[in-house]
Amino acid sequence: MSAKDSAWWCDAVIYQVYPRSYADSDGDGVGDIDGIRAHLGHLRDLGVDAIWMSPWYPSPMADAGYDVADFRDIDPVFGTLAAAEALITEAHQAGIKIIVDIVPNHVSSEHPWFQAAIASPDAPERDYFWFRPASERMPTAWTGEFGGTTWSKAPDGSWYLHLFTPQQPDLNWEHPDVRAEFEDILRFWFDRGADGIRIDSAALLFKDKDLPEVRDGEPHPFRDLDAVHDVYRAWRRVADEYPDRALIGEVWMPEVDRFTNYLRPDELHAAFNFDFLGCAWDPYLMRACIDRTLDAHAGVGAPPTWVLSNHDVTRHVTRYGRTDTTFSFGNNLDGTPVDLELGTRRARAAALLSLSLPGATYVYQGEELGLWENENIAEDQMQDPMYARRGHSRDGCRVPLPWSGDEPPYGFSTATPWLPQPAEWKDRTVQAQTGDPNSMLELYRAAIRLRRSQGAGFAWLDRGAEVLAYTRGPRFACVLNLSGAPVPLPEHKTCLLASGPLDGDLLPRDTAVWLRL
Ligand code: GLC
Repeated sequence: MSAKDSAWWCDAVIYQVYPRSYADSDGDGVGDIDGIRAHLGHLRDLGVDAIWMSPWYPSPMADAGYDVADFRDIDPVFGTLAAAEALITEAHQAGIKIIVDIVPNHVSSEHPWFQAAIASPDAPERDYFWFRPASERMPTAWTGEFGGTTWSKAPDGSWYLHLFTPQQPDLNWEHPDVRAEFEDILRFWFDRGADGIRIDSAALLFKDKDLPEVRDGEPHPFRDLDAVHDVYRAWRRVADEYPDRALIGEVWMPEVDRFTNYLRPDELHAAFNFDFLGCAWDPYLMRACIDRTLDAHAGVGAPPTWVLSNHDVTRHVTRYGRTDTTFSFGNNLDGTPVDLELGTRRARAAALLSLSLPGATYVYQGEELGLWENENIAEDQMQDPMYARRGHSRDGCRVPLPWSGDEPPYGFSTATPWLPQPAEWKDRTVQAQTGDPNSMLELYRAAIRLRRSQGAGFAWLDRGAEVLAYTRGPRFACVLNLSGAPVPLPEHKTCLLASGPLDGDLLPRDTAVWLRL
């Protein structure tokens, strides 16, 4: 095994903290850094190796903090830079690494660069963005990432580009100052002990300067332009100035070869596996997805990642409880019937799958509690800017965590939480689940603990087309029954962990086990 294969990001369990919703320490109904510090014990007990912090920077919160006004400070709603530094230190003391979230595609319209750019047509900062002269028609008819148009008018009538909301003007990555600024931001956080960087919207940075329309069969004007790879090569050189730092890309890319380009040896260390996240609960499709993932990553020598949920997608307890178990932004399933019992059963099995496949596993906060999507948020309480443009709100997966007690706010805060928590979450709190061997939380704790005893390597075991079974080394196997009926377990010494009750030596449907061979 080379040094690179044994680096921490190759097989880490990485827990995504969504700071607004983890824990509130100052009673304003919004989670904050001191709340995370106070509840670091939860992450230590869970056994995670690293935390990925969604953005905590000063922000007008037009997109929940993904509209950054200053990359070198902390928003007062979350705390201070000193609190962030203390969190990094305390996490390190607990053996937990910290990944910070950097958003290079755009800044907030309140960022000093954009403010300077709109203050005067001669400002040098204007070239840091995509301005086009005032005209009746927008420069392009592109559809934005949240739906809707991608151009808005600056006060002087000129157009500026934003692939997301008008409050998120896109940066011009052709400009050397933009490149230099972000390399400096990386160093700022690496110098403060950050162990990794999650790169937001990593494939969108470059735009075709001629601004062509999006046409079938022609190169896309703003998705995955080749020039982006030079930026990540430069970032890799910065990361390599420090020991053991990782760059992890948010790359939504259906074409596997285009995706793995980001993972070439001199580019990013890892990227989120959205192919797996969006995959249906189906033995044939899942097996194909796993094979595709392993082959593609082996080809570039990068570690695979396994992701079931995050702050942008419908929670997987809900997804797996629907008839259509896929996820994609274009396919809005809101309000379609959900069988939460079935979804929970499958989510438990999925945990044993994602925590035993070779590579790193991401756990989105609340997934370890078996939380489902809150689909009952009133329209006037919704905050996500995607809702107005696409009719789907990501707020349902961003609801504050239930820690203790029988009713909202479940120990999250002393105030009313910024998004409502379901009354049915009283048995999903950390307190209620701790010590209950049948709880999702204890399943995750046990799985993360036992994960260390898996071997290296990966080989499929043939248990029929509708059973996903594989070994990790000579002594460990995972078996997931995706057929409609119970199946016999392969020969084994002991059952280490099961996602649900076994029926003697039979593995019920939608159930997974870890076996000692
Ligand atoms: C990424 C983030 C998402 C955000 C968007 C714009 O996809 O995960 O939450 O809205 O980028 O920054």
